[in-house]
Amino acid sequence: MNTLFESPEVVHNIPEDTARLTVLDENITGIVAQIVLALKNDQVVLVRGVTQKNADDMMFNVAQNFGLDHKLEVEAGFASVKGHRENVGKYFMTVNKRDDYHFIPAHCEGSSRMRMQLASFYAVENTTDGGSSILLNINDASPEWSIQRELVKKCKLGNKKLSQYETMKLKMMHGIELPADLLTDADVIISNDVSPVDGVSLFNVLEQLRKVHSVILDRDCYAYWDTVASYDFDSGTGYFDLLRNCDLLKIPDGVNDFTALDNAYARRVWKSGTHYPSLFKSKLTQQLMAGDLVFMNNLSWAHSTSNWNPGSGRRKVLAAFA
Ligand SMILES: [Fe+2]
Repeated sequence: MNTLFESPEVVHNIPEDTARLTVLDENITGIVAQIVLALKNDQVVLVRGVTQKNADDMMFNVAQNFGLDHKLEVEAGFASVKGHRENVGKYFMTVNKRDDYHFIPAHCEGSSRMRMQLASFYAVENTTDGGSSILLNINDASPEWSIQRELVKKCKLGNKKLSQYETMKLKMMHGIELPADLLTDADVIISNDVSPVDGVSLFNVLEQLRKVHSVILDRDCYAYWDTVASYDFDSGTGYFDLLRNCDLLKIPDGVNDFTALDNAYARRVWKSGTHYPSLFKSKLTQQLMAGDLVFMNNLSWAHSTSNWNPGSGRRKVLAAFA
């Protein structure tokens, strides 16, 4: 069991690089073109003093520039269907619920199957004594990516010939694409799952992480998908060490087990052995203020949030993805 005080981890800070942040004024002419240009240079963009209505409009226009407007609409639609987020305005939605003192470890939204390209966050209010957004720029050249695994669903058909309806059922209910998601010898089975189709076995497996094409950068990249980061114990430990090294951790009285603070702990299933700081080139730490609107490439930047003392203030940050 990891405890707060016994970790012998040497301090490995990920450098803060404020040169990677482009701050823009909402009222400048051609703001959308400037956001698009900055994103193409793999910058994080912060626009200050934006109304919620304008945040929606700006997100749509930026997404449209990359041909992602339809994806933006689909993701906003899915939020309410799945029920874990609520739509606020047109495209923005509430972020996932967290318990008191929870931090959200670094991840890129979604999975390699969902391929969300663009992420945006909008702060309605943030008056807590923590709740910093820490954005981490992925170091694509790191050898650490070769040991990353993604938790995905795969199936085994045996002699079964699937009808078009059954194929569609597997795709709609579990995101399974055939034949790509047939179980292979290289997959590590974590658990069996309930199959919606008779004669088909369904599994939760760890598969080798693959690069995904970034529409914004026009190249293939590794992304630290939620389906990678949230299933690896070492991702939680690595992020905890980062917060502690940066003095951004709030520790409740009487708690000596950091796993109680890790929002993704219950999902973790394996230890990759990753040297966490090697996954990232640099980071940007921002305590978002009311009206702040942030854009970033969801593949090349992972997002995370530090924790805060409950009752120290209120934090409402919305998210949109395309
Ligand atoms: Fe997220």
